[in-house]
Amino acid sequence: MNAVTPLTALKIRIRAMLESDLPQVLMIDQQSFSMPWPLSAYHYELRVNPESLLWVAETEAGDGSRKVIGMIVVWFVVDEAHIATIAVDPRYRQRGVARELLTWALKEIVQKGFSIATLEVRAGNVAAQNLYRAFGFEVVGGRPRYYRDNNEDALIMTVEGLDQVDLDQPRIKSMNGHREDRHDS
Ligand SMILES: CC(C)(COP(=O)(O)OP(=O)(O)OC[C@H]1O[C@@H](n2cnc3c(N)ncnc32)[C@H](O)[C@@H]1OP(=O)(O)O)[C@@H](O)C(=O)NCCC(=O)NCCS
Repeated sequence: MNAVTPLTALKIRIRAMLESDLPQVLMIDQQSFSMPWPLSAYHYELRVNPESLLWVAETEAGDGSRKVIGMIVVWFVVDEAHIATIAVDPRYRQRGVARELLTWALKEIVQKGFSIATLEVRAGNVAAQNLYRAFGFEVVGGRPRYYRDNNEDALIMTVEGLDQVDLDQPRIKSMNGHREDRHDS
């Protein structure tokens, strides 16, 4: 799949991650996480792991050059897709880039025949939790003191029945079909 998605004055395209993207991807990772993935982890996912798919969001600068501004990695484990990581360049946040990345990834997950997606998120990461809830993810459990850097708990968030959801309308249509308010309580 290939797409150019116009956002407010920001055109992005989602495509498969390439090794040549890794310097930009690592930069975003380091700016986004207190425990960023090392280069070797991305090499493993790109070169070795047959169960992972990696995409980037790129945008076009004024001079026509392309710049990677976000990424998402998905692992396919037994009958579930696991969102292993997602991050957006801090300078491009809150412009819908993560929503585009997740929409893309969830569509690919469904195309591969999976209908369940799951992930871990820091208990204090409200921005990410809001993003996931918009796609129907719900908290189904937790992992106490999961994150080694500050012993923060992880929430496990899962969405089921992805094949039944209109992924172009996140948040509008919930898993059981009724319309949801766009704001979290
Ligand atoms: C979480 C993250 C990926 C969101 O990226 P983004 O491109 O800014 O998100 P979007 O603009 O697509 O926002 C989509 C939804 O996410 C939620 N959201 C995003 N940023 C938010 C914030 N700062 N506060 C509250 N909710 C937020 C909102 O529900 C938003 O929907 P809305 O615009 O209708 O309110 C980004 O903040 C990031 O890279 N954080 C660091 C890495 C990280 O925490 N990754 C998740 C690991 S589990």
